[in-house]
Order: sequence, then C-alpha cells, then structure tokens
Amino acid sequence: MNILLFGKTGQVGWELQRALSPLGNLIALDVNSKEYCGDFSNPQGIAETVRRIKPDVIVNAAAHTAVDKAEAEHEFAKLLNATTVEAIAKEAASIGAWLIHYSTDYVFPGNGDKPWREIDTTGPLNTYGETKLAGEMAVLENCQKYLIFRTSWVYANRGNNFAKTMLRLAKEREELSVINDQFGAPTGAELLADCTAHAIAMALRKPDVAGIYHLVASGITTWFDYANVVFAEAENAGYKLALKITHPVPTDSYPTPARRPLNSRLDNRKFQETFGLTLPSWDMGVKRMLEELFTPSGL
Ligand SMILES: NC(=O)c1ccc[n+]([C@@H]2O[C@H](COP(=O)([O-])OP(=O)(O)OC[C@H]3O[C@@H](n4cnc5c(N)ncnc54)[C@H](OP(=O)(O)O)[C@@H]3O)[C@@H](O)[C@H]2O)c1
Repeated sequence: MNILLFGKTGQVGWELQRALSPLGNLIALDVNSKEYCGDFSNPQGIAETVRRIKPDVIVNAAAHTAVDKAEAEHEFAKLLNATTVEAIAKEAASIGAWLIHYSTDYVFPGNGDKPWREIDTTGPLNTYGETKLAGEMAVLENCQKYLIFRTSWVYANRGNNFAKTMLRLAKEREELSVINDQFGAPTGAELLADCTAHAIAMALRKPDVAGIYHLVASGITTWFDYANVVFAEAENAGYKLALKITHPVPTDSYPTPARRPLNSRLDNRKFQETFGLTLPSWDMGVKRMLEELFTPSGL
C-alpha cells in the first residue's frame, strides 16, 4: 500500500512520518521536495504528484496555520487551505484513494460553553477558520472516502510551543499575564498521528467510517491553567523560574489581527466510539512532553 503524506515537516506531519510508516510504503513530501511537487501554492503541481504516485491513502498535514498573518494574506491562505485541498480531493476521487485531512475548532463561532459536536453549525471568526472551513467543504463535495479530523491547540515536542514560550518567559519575568477566557484542549501531535494511523487501518477495513470527527485530547482547560500546569511541573523538576505571580486576563487585553473563539471545546465522543479508542486527558501528553524537556539529553 502506498501512502502519500503532505506537510511532513509540520508538528503533525513530523509525527505522522513515524506513525504511518508501519502501514505501508510512505512517500512523505514538504514544500521543498524535489522529485515530486509538495508545494501547496501550486495546486496543479500537487494534483500531478497524486496522479504520478497513485497512492492508496493521502494524508494532508500541510496548511497555512499562521492565524494572524492569514488576515493580511487571505488569498494565499485560501490557496493553501482550500484550493489545493480541492485539487487533492478531486484526484483522490478519481483514483479511489482515501483522503485524510485536518481541520480546526476555528470553524466554529466560539460562543456558548458547550463542546461543539460534528453536526453543529459552523461560523468562523477569522480568515484562517474561513479558509479551513472552505477546505472541509472541498473535501466533502469532491470525494467520498475521506476522514476530516478537527483538532485544537496542537503542540509538539519538536520546535516551539506554548509550554516552551511560557517557560522562557517565566525564567525572565517575575509576573506574567495569561489569557483565562478561552477554553479548549491542548492536543499533542503524537496523539493525533497515532490516532490517525489507527483510524486509517480501520477505514481500510470499514469504509463506512468516512466522515468528520473531532479529534482532541479529553478534558478542558484555559491558557492560564495550562500555563500553571507547566510552571508547577517545572518547579517539581527543580527548574529555576523567576516567576512569582501569574495574572489571569481576558482575551481582549491582547488585541490580535485575528479574532479568537472563546469556546474551543470539541466533543470527541464520536471519534472514540467509532474507532474504539480512548482519548486521554490533555494534561497526560503535556506532562510527558515537559518531562522530556526537563530530562537532560546527555549529549
Ligand atoms: N497548530 C494548531 O494549534 C492547530 C489547531 C487546529 C488545527 N490544526 C490543523 O492541524 C494540521 C496540522 O497543523 P500543525 O500544527 O502541524 O501545523 P504546522 O506545524 O504549522 O505545519 C504546517 C505544515 O504546512 C507546511 N506548509 C506551509 N506552507 C506550505 C506550502 N506552501 N506548501 C506545502 N506545505 C506548506 C509547513 O511547512 P513549513 O514549516 O516549511 O512552513 C508545515 O510543514 C493543519 O491542518 C492545521 O490547520 C492545527
């Protein structure tokens, strides 16, 4: 079986390289790939890649994910998040391949306090959310063998993440203000990748699982509470912080070009019930990631 992965260097793409490899022959591309086009600003090139490789499964982890930048480059975000996704979906349909695609809690308007279900009405607040929703529609309208995984607050060990930023600031400053009115579930790229691999294995046996799923860690937190978990773990590990006090602040105290939803809660029951998997509490993955961070590499 051939699996084609787009966006192999992203947080999720990197973990997918590991998690997908036992499923078959993995061809993993990024924007700079030479033999095949992996550049999402070139939809025809990406379509040509699919036609040449003729994969059984396509996993798309590439996206325009710079939420604030997207406000100033709407057309470019649409090209990456929707137009090229449409090109992939059409090619997937014509060769009968499965298409696995990621989307976001930002497709929802962020009001209320109930976890969003897959059937709830969407209403994005910003360009990133709008273009990701257009990407979902492109998949739904153009192919039938698809899995769309909406996720939220993704972090990975590799590269920068919220926890590392908080730790850096907490080493430098005695006081920090952190947003306390956005609610969601930090979800590890490792968890996403492993669940994706399980879901693909099931989809190949049971094609009627095709659909949209909310794939997030369980439980709910705020950025403020998340930051405090990071600081507590750091202190337990004997990590020296200058920080003395953390202030909870509302979202509007940090104006940004893109509006953020306050309610990013996603109901993940459909995913767990369909695929027979248990999505662990968000803090399990965060604590494990921190433990790795605090363990000296020995180099
Ligand atoms: N991060 C989050 O909090 C979050 C939340 C909800 C949903 N999601 C969704 O989850 C999926 C994976 O996100 P992630 O967190 O892994 O994002 P990420 O780390 O930003 O990765 C995105 C990937 O897309 C690539 N990319 C950017 N421009 C490209 C282009 N022109 N052609 C080809 N590839 C290009 C990036 O490459 P470079 O690094 O070389 O630019 C990177 O490898 C995305 O669909 C995203 O919308 C993410």
